[in-house]
Amino acid sequence: MQDNKITARNVQVYYGDNQAIKDVNVDIADKTVTAFIGPSGCGKSTFLRCLNRMNDTIDICRVEGDIRIDGEDIYDPKVDPVQLRAKVGMVFQKPNPFPKSIYDNVAYGPKIHGLARNKAELDEIVEKSLRKAALWNEAKDRLAAPGTGLSGGQQQRLCIARAIATSPEVLLMDEPCSALDPIATAQVEELIDELRQSFSVVIVTHSMQQAARVSQKTAFFHLGNLVEYDETDKIFTNPEDPRTESYISGRIG
Ligand SMILES: Nc1ncnc2c1ncn2[C@@H]1O[C@H](COP(=O)(O)OP(=O)(O)OP(=O)(O)O)[C@@H](O)[C@H]1O
Ligand SMILES: [Mg+2]
Repeated sequence: MQDNKITARNVQVYYGDNQAIKDVNVDIADKTVTAFIGPSGCGKSTFLRCLNRMNDTIDICRVEGDIRIDGEDIYDPKVDPVQLRAKVGMVFQKPNPFPKSIYDNVAYGPKIHGLARNKAELDEIVEKSLRKAALWNEAKDRLAAPGTGLSGGQQQRLCIARAIATSPEVLLMDEPCSALDPIATAQVEELIDELRQSFSVVIVTHSMQQAARVSQKTAFFHLGNLVEYDETDKIFTNPEDPRTESYISGRIG
């Protein structure tokens, strides 16, 4: 069993008066893929956004409780959310490359965080990130071309390269394959499995097949509650809670 990378205790999230996350407690392991599943509106994205303080950007959103990464309280006033987001990268549902070249999409983060001392080092980070994201072979001869000119699956791999270029420790992915075709999905899933060697990966997915394929741990959310959290095999073969059972057998959601 790996060490815990993230611990969340008594997490409540409100949008105005509406409580979207209700007293969630969870430990997320390092070098592991953790899947968040559950019906639409159950709070998966909301909880995921707590882990890199993306909810800070939503005015009416209020987060309570204690969330730590490597024991450090990420909501401590001395934590800079921009630095935190370099350490806890995020990939969204729709590929959202910057309107810049392929090279600059990947180089942007390392540049603003001062991770390269010179052009050669930056080139190296860009190449390494694109290789890890399984995009290097397709992109190496067109690094100056706009990122938006890539196919959807390539754009998503570019966004993954961009997210890993700052050497994050945690990678959050909110339905990263929902805009992709089956071939691109398979490539991204293979990539997620490789990324697990270096990072803790948390993925929100609507596809139970995907959760079963890529994750080792699965958390089932329902109406803002974390109903059940266990080994992925256990959740899909022998869940404890009747609500989990109903969801995985297709009766709710
Ligand atoms: N920006 C927001 N402002 C107000 N309410 C929000 C906001 N974002 C989410 N909510 C509410 O919080 C609850 C949880 O939403 P969330 O997006 O986290 O669910 P989800 O599980 O990710 O759903 P889906 O599977 O459809 O993406 C819902 O009731 C939703 O309406
Ligand atoms: Mg969502």
